[in-house]
Amino acid sequence: MQLGFVCALLSLLAGNSWADTRAIGAQECHPNSQPWQAGLFYVTRNPYRLLCGATLVSDRWLLTAAHCQRPFLWVRLGEHHLQKREGPEQLFRVMDFFPHPGFKQNRITQDYKDDIMLIRLPRKARLGPAVQPLNVSETCVSPGTQCLISGWGAVSSPTVHFPVTLQCANISILEPRLCQRAYPGQISKGMLCAGLWEGGRGSCQGDSGGPLVCHGTLAGVVSGGSELCSRPHHPGVYSSVCHYVRWIRKTMEEY
Ligand SMILES: *[C@@H]1O[C@H](CO)[C@@H](O)[C@H](O)[C@H]1NC(C)=O
Ligand SMILES: *[C@@H]1O[C@H](CO)[C@@H](O)[C@H](O)[C@H]1NC(C)=O
Repeated sequence: MQLGFVCALLSLLAGNSWADTRAIGAQECHPNSQPWQAGLFYVTRNPYRLLCGATLVSDRWLLTAAHCQRPFLWVRLGEHHLQKREGPEQLFRVMDFFPHPGFKQNRITQDYKDDIMLIRLPRKARLGPAVQPLNVSETCVSPGTQCLISGWGAVSSPTVHFPVTLQCANISILEPRLCQRAYPGQISKGMLCAGLWEGGRGSCQGDSGGPLVCHGTLAGVVSGGSELCSRPHHPGVYSSVCHYVRWIRKTMEEY
């Protein structure tokens, strides 16, 4: 079964010059309305190369997907238009990655269990209107909950087109039963599916690692989904943050 968790992988394997997994059926976010949104880049000058999204969870830590790990990455905060200098942007070179110990990078079996990772910034972020952390969700959200995803990932698929401004989309949490039906045998306890069952809206390449915000807290981290983004009956797969609260706390306290 060609279940790609991969919007994410596509680009890694194909050497896609942009990268990893965003949002189909989205619209431009109001600038800096998602002040916890971070972008992870391989190269930060033009042509910049977006790898993943991430979420600022304190002035020193980001939460993203474990499959976004590289020897080092550039983090941009306070960003909206990727090609314009608008004022609130902050840039960090990061090397301190803390992937969840349960994550095994296995591109053959495409096991994306525990696809969650903390990143420590080399210095504190300067908080302001365009740069604010988001609390992690301690209680798990129920199916049907309306949530918001955001990212600079592809806005079309399979022919990918990348936006220059941050895109936002409302999607809902799906029943675990539907999630299992879409990806039989591949959905573990720490995962959830979100999107529209009929397709047409959801995360895509370049969105990986980015936020799923429900009730004003971080409920999910974009992990994967079907290879063609937003196909009917192949919703996006997210790491369910409520299952990792203890690990997140412990890691942030220890390091
Ligand atoms: C975030 O969590 C802190 C500590 O639990 C709490 O005091 C604060 O009100 C929360 N912020 C929001 C926006 O929910
Ligand atoms: C998401 O839904 C909220 C509330 O219904 C609405 O105010 C907002 O404009 C929607 N955002 C997008 C990007 O569709």
